[in-house]
Amino acid sequence: MKKIKLIVKTKSKKYPIIIGSNIIGNISNILKSNNFFFEKCLIIYDTKVPKIKLNILKKRIKSRQKITHYFKANEKNKNLKNINIILNKLFKYNFNRNDCIISLGGGITGDVSGFAASIFKRGLKFINIPTTLLSQVDSSIGGKTGVNTRYGKNLIGSFMQPDLVISDISNLNSLPKREIICGYGEILKHSLINNGNTFKYLNKNYFKIISLKSPFIDKAIADSCKIKRSIVELDEKEKNLRKVLNLGHTFAHAYEASLSYTNKLNHGEAVIMGIISSAKFSFENNILNKKDYNKIINHINYLKFPSHLKYYFKKKHVNKIIKYMKSDKKNNSSKINLILIKKIGKIILGSRFSESIIKKFLVKELIN
Ligand SMILES: NC(=O)c1ccc[n+]([C@@H]2O[C@H](COP(=O)([O-])OP(=O)(O)OC[C@H]3O[C@@H](n4cnc5c(N)ncnc54)[C@H](O)[C@@H]3O)[C@@H](O)[C@H]2O)c1
Ligand SMILES: [Zn+2]
Repeated sequence: MKKIKLIVKTKSKKYPIIIGSNIIGNISNILKSNNFFFEKCLIIYDTKVPKIKLNILKKRIKSRQKITHYFKANEKNKNLKNINIILNKLFKYNFNRNDCIISLGGGITGDVSGFAASIFKRGLKFINIPTTLLSQVDSSIGGKTGVNTRYGKNLIGSFMQPDLVISDISNLNSLPKREIICGYGEILKHSLINNGNTFKYLNKNYFKIISLKSPFIDKAIADSCKIKRSIVELDEKEKNLRKVLNLGHTFAHAYEASLSYTNKLNHGEAVIMGIISSAKFSFENNILNKKDYNKIINHINYLKFPSHLKYYFKKKHVNKIIKYMKSDKKNNSSKINLILIKKIGKIILGSRFSESIIKKFLVKELIN
């Protein structure tokens, strides 16, 4: 399949997303045709990405100086200490605003790299080369960058759109199956936000998509990017509309936090669990109709991963989950803010529920 080029236009920046297979080998042409130049670059490289990809990138970039920063991507290392190490390296090599940071890795590497790029001398150039499905369909677009603190995930950060995103689908070949399902969780989320057509496409082709078959995977990635783009362009800084992208995430973040962000439940898996909870909560509160509810649940069942809350939690965990739901950044009052589903393609923002209602819902899930 041919390369796909999408342009994202926000108030702060206009930038291309290039999607295709084996395209990093073509980076110098991509840079040239997009009029993008820099003298020096720091490549922040997730060491789990096959080394050959780094070598190709370094060989094909024609800048004067190419420095590699090896980064072990995990939520623990997504912290200010590692930002400081990167900043010191940028000082050591005398980087200035005409130079560039390139992220070669998944969402963690992208968030860390983008944050470093946004604060060093008030902003370096930034290219994101996402190497996981989740980062290709979600985190590389929209300009949220940041790190975790001991108070919670992504609590320090900035909004800075990248200058260029290169989503090379061949990078996904080395990705564990489990990570593919994680990325699929965000694709599914986007399909529920958009009109029903994207969901129909997924329902028909999910197996080809998760098996990375072209052109299905290409289309799924591009469609997901388009949906996120349409929202980010209207609400870059998450004043209101962008909150729809958090569908399933109030539950998801609380599930992840309650398991201390261990690999028992990865972010994308937590998102799928969160979508199930949102759909069920919407259905039980007469917001979502039975037909669409069944479609969503049946679709998730196709993915064949342990998607019952009981697999991860016991009744005694409910208070902890509620505590994390209450501390969600998106809550402005003592009640818990949920993003609910009215039908496939129609999301409702700003529904607030008391702790006791949500507690009852979770307890029921865990005893049935
Ligand atoms: N900025 C945003 O808008 C946004 C949106 C969603 C998620 N996020 C953040 O993204 C992160 C999750 O992203 P992720 O799922 O990509 O996680 P990740 O970066 O941890 O990558 C998942 C795993 O795959 C490995 N990996 C990466 N590329 C690989 C490849 N090509 N081959 C083999 N292994 C590879 C990584 O080392 C890691 O072990 C979270 O920290 C989340 O907060 C940010
Ligand atoms: Zn997410």
